[in-house]
Amino acid sequence: MSYYVRLMRKEDIAQATEIDREAFPAEWPPIDYERELQNWLAHYIVACDDSETSQEPEVTVAPQKGFSKLASRVRQWFNYEPAFSSELPPSGRQYILGFAGFWITADEAHITNIAVREIHRRQGIGELLLISIIDLATGLNAGKLTLEVRASNIAAQSLYYKYGFTQVGLRHGYYTNNKEDAILMSIEDITSASFQSRLNQLKKAHSKNGELPSTKLSDSY
Ligand SMILES: CC(C)(COP(=O)(O)OP(=O)(O)OC[C@H]1O[C@@H](n2cnc3c(N)ncnc32)[C@H](O)[C@@H]1OP(=O)(O)O)[C@@H](O)C(=O)NCCC(=O)NCCS
Repeated sequence: MSYYVRLMRKEDIAQATEIDREAFPAEWPPIDYERELQNWLAHYIVACDDSETSQEPEVTVAPQKGFSKLASRVRQWFNYEPAFSSELPPSGRQYILGFAGFWITADEAHITNIAVREIHRRQGIGELLLISIIDLATGLNAGKLTLEVRASNIAAQSLYYKYGFTQVGLRHGYYTNNKEDAILMSIEDITSASFQSRLNQLKKAHSKNGELPSTKLSDSY
């Protein structure tokens, strides 16, 4: 399957909400993604299937402001194209495979969620979303990445450990539905040479052809 990552748009909200409900049925109330897209601290991305078109009704929206500048900066600062795209789809509507989001506060990017449609898991999509978050957060001058994850969520924890997160705390009974503990995880310095070198190795390993993730970027807004 061919897929890539770009910023979330208003037209993606219905599919993102569907994926959110499937992945986090116990979280209530569900996240209001329309509101999140208006929040300048919040950044959301989606993984799209190149080949499929969704059945959702077409809605015309403007892409998120400022993304293009950020993409250019990321392109300049790194010796590869970032793993996310600002381009509009060539035609039709895109099938969303997964999405992820984070909030930026001071120099910290806090990952709010990352989810992949159940039928499309274990195909590297979660990994590409995480890579893209790290690139975006770095481009937005974040030094540190943080998140909370359910103690029972071994799949997500494995993904985070793979990318260098370490456990830095525990919140007892944090999740209200079943009083499950939350594990707090972080990467303390995503700008360090050692982390960036590890990230590049992981990107190479993730990519099927051994090259770093590439995409076309547009500077049109
Ligand atoms: C966590 C999640 C996003 C991973 O997405 P994914 O596309 O299936 O993950 P990938 O295929 O990219 O896997 C990347 C790595 O994640 C880890 N991983 C993913 N699924 C796993 C599983 N079922 N068991 C163990 N490790 C797993 C592995 O380390 C894997 O690397 P590997 O292939 O070298 O073993 C997905 O399971 C999901 O949407 N879960 C529900 C939502 C959720 O819990 N989100 C996290 C909230 S904190």
